[in-house]
Amino acid sequence: MSQEQFDLVVIGGGPAGYTGAIRAAQLGLKVAVVEKDRALGGTCLNVGCIPSKALLDSSEHFSMAAHGEFAGHGLKLSKVELDLPTMMARKTAVVKELTDGIQFLFGKNKIEWVKGFGRVTGRNEVTVRGEAGERRLEARNTMIATGSVPIELPFLKFDGKRVLSSTEALSLPEVPKRLLVIGAGVIGLELGSVWARLGAKVTVLEYADQFLAAADQTAAKLLLRTLKKQGLDIRLGCKVGKADVSAKGVKLEYEDAAEKKTVEIEGDYVLVSAGRRAFCDELGVESVGVKVDDRGRVEIDDHFRTAVPNIYAVGDVVRGAMLAHKAEEEGVAVAEIIATGHGHVNYETVPWVIYTWPELAWVGQTEEQVKASGRKCKAGQFPFKANGRAKAMGFTDGVCKIVADAETDRVLGVHIVGPRASDMIAEAVIAMEFGASSEDIARSFHAHPTLSEIMREAALAVAGRARQM
Ligand code: NAI
Repeated sequence: MSQEQFDLVVIGGGPAGYTGAIRAAQLGLKVAVVEKDRALGGTCLNVGCIPSKALLDSSEHFSMAAHGEFAGHGLKLSKVELDLPTMMARKTAVVKELTDGIQFLFGKNKIEWVKGFGRVTGRNEVTVRGEAGERRLEARNTMIATGSVPIELPFLKFDGKRVLSSTEALSLPEVPKRLLVIGAGVIGLELGSVWARLGAKVTVLEYADQFLAAADQTAAKLLLRTLKKQGLDIRLGCKVGKADVSAKGVKLEYEDAAEKKTVEIEGDYVLVSAGRRAFCDELGVESVGVKVDDRGRVEIDDHFRTAVPNIYAVGDVVRGAMLAHKAEEEGVAVAEIIATGHGHVNYETVPWVIYTWPELAWVGQTEEQVKASGRKCKAGQFPFKANGRAKAMGFTDGVCKIVADAETDRVLGVHIVGPRASDMIAEAVIAMEFGASSEDIARSFHAHPTLSEIMREAALAVAGRARQM
């Protein structure tokens, strides 16, 4: 067994790990990344963000074509057929290009990919079990970036055939006639949308009685109405308690809290999207003194340090939002802390996006949250239907809302439901990062005609002077 020395050994090649590794290499560190899967990129690139977006875009095109939405543009499509294998192959090709891209970047930055399952076997040692046997790496610093896995319900174990996690729901061999989804969270709504657009009857069972409780409720209610119009049967206040799985399908039993009755429902498949949990199984961290909290997350201080000073942890395996961009920034911060002594993440400006159609995106606090904190605020909003570009595109369902401090006018939160909200939210992130007021946004140029003007109009509405109504 050979032993090699590295300034930094990263365990996990997802967004937190590969981004942190590249930044560390740019800063002159000798870096190795341990990854057990066949491709780099982690959940995000292989079975998460990227393949789901490929399917969301493809299925949106299909749905628009199949439902005659191009007719108003003067496009007559006589026969629209779904070729699911081609759609899936395209998704796979998109993923491969991006995961190959990370491998290319590793080569360029002289980062070694050590293939296999890594364990922390000492304060300065990571042991990797791979096809070529066992290898010990001497690590001046270690970054744990092992990510998360889907949460399994005790009465409904994943079998990959009828009981699906997001991974299998991205690669179904057929369009289900009836798809049941447990959890109206990010994954349930995105993948539920994909299969509903392709023709499945999708029923989403959500435990909470409020739809997307963390989001601004004006935006959430508009999204709920629009998704229901698209055919998603979203049922709130449903506690699923029993399941019967056969080779042909699934039968669920749930308590309907509002109706106070037990309901049975059948589907060909069930997608369980009831959250994810930190993954540090068999990592061995506790043996060297690293602490893990009661939710299985690696405990860290404000500088991403575990209880062992030269072992850091970032991404889904630690506290906070399970988002690729949050993970990436943490990976970068750790690389900078190790190499320069300084690194920082501003959690006040982490954007959230749900890639349904329309999309929901927000950053900062909701009006409800600001008021609950005792702070006085003012809000302004503007509908997509009053925007010239949205009209030209033919996508007018949506609204943008800006919440600002009542006294200082500093922007505290921005909430958008509408087409391309995911891209529009970037402006709000920058504005908040620079401590902008709503007047700053209102007085900045926004090219005409663009969807971005909706943000300016919402900013003007904070002062009661929206123009384009
Ligand atoms: P989630 O936390 O977004 O939503 C889970 C939903 O399931 C919640 O609304 C919860 O109330 C409900 N639920 C939990 N147990 C239930 C039960 N027994 N019966 C009915 N409903 C139940 O989790 P999700 O969608 O699984 O996503 C996991 C993580 O992945 C999230 O933290 C999310 O941030 C991340 N993610 C982010 C994406 C994005 O940024 N667009 C895309 C996909 C995932």
